[in-house]
Amino acid sequence: MSGPSTTGCVVADERRRPPAAVVFDALGSRYEAAFASSEAHRRSLRWLSERLPPGARVLDVGSGTGRPTAAALARQGHRVLGVDVSPVMVEIASGQVPEAEFECADIRTMPLEDGSFDAVCVYFSLLQMSRTEQAALVKRLARALRPGGLLALGTVPLDVENFDGVFMGQPVRVTSFAAQEVVAVVRAADLTVESQESVMFTPAHPDARPEPHLFVHARRPDGGTEATDGSRTE
Ligand SMILES: C[S@@+](CC[C@H](N)C(=O)[O-])C[C@H]1O[C@@H](n2cnc3c(N)ncnc32)[C@H](O)[C@@H]1O
Repeated sequence: MSGPSTTGCVVADERRRPPAAVVFDALGSRYEAAFASSEAHRRSLRWLSERLPPGARVLDVGSGTGRPTAAALARQGHRVLGVDVSPVMVEIASGQVPEAEFECADIRTMPLEDGSFDAVCVYFSLLQMSRTEQAALVKRLARALRPGGLLALGTVPLDVENFDGVFMGQPVRVTSFAAQEVVAVVRAADLTVESQESVMFTPAHPDARPEPHLFVHARRPDGGTEATDGSRTE
């Protein structure tokens, strides 16, 4: 695997850096420590692992420190590409998970080839995007899946838009959807929802309060081959 690529993160004007890069550059490994005990995240990864073919190509959107997601999947022999807008996170992930590949880029503008991944993970990386961007991204990620490919999405399902809060000591502006809207966004991307899990989780951080976590597991339908008479072969 090649080393981390950071070209996608160069922003000439510091003040125009994506807000997520500013927050997660500041947090670095402290984020991993605060969320390491999430059993629901591990169950979500198990859902994926049990369904992936050997040597699957997996895109990890907002790969953070590379743990637990990229590390667990790469350890199982899958080919993982992690993408993160925070150069600090990419640096940490590349050091911790050398068997995966990491790229520093904003997923909102990164080109994605149709049908090129067996699975896409999006764990807690949508929250600094607008609702329109979140929905558009999930559609693009769905198209990047091969037919039959899998999406694992984790988020904080709150009906908030541009909510100014403090996350582990960092000022953040958060946008999300209520749980049923998250599921609707996934369905609107033409994916079939196979399972979902809602839990409360308290990060290991002095300021942290319990927060809702939602994991949605979905599949791009395998449409089969359409014959000239319109019938389909699965
Ligand atoms: C809350 S952390 C989650 C990290 C990891 N997915 C996990 O669950 O442990 C969100 C990550 O998504 C990244 N991120 C947020 N917006 C992004 C974007 N537009 N493009 C790429 N990465 C993004 C952040 O830099 C951060 O590392």
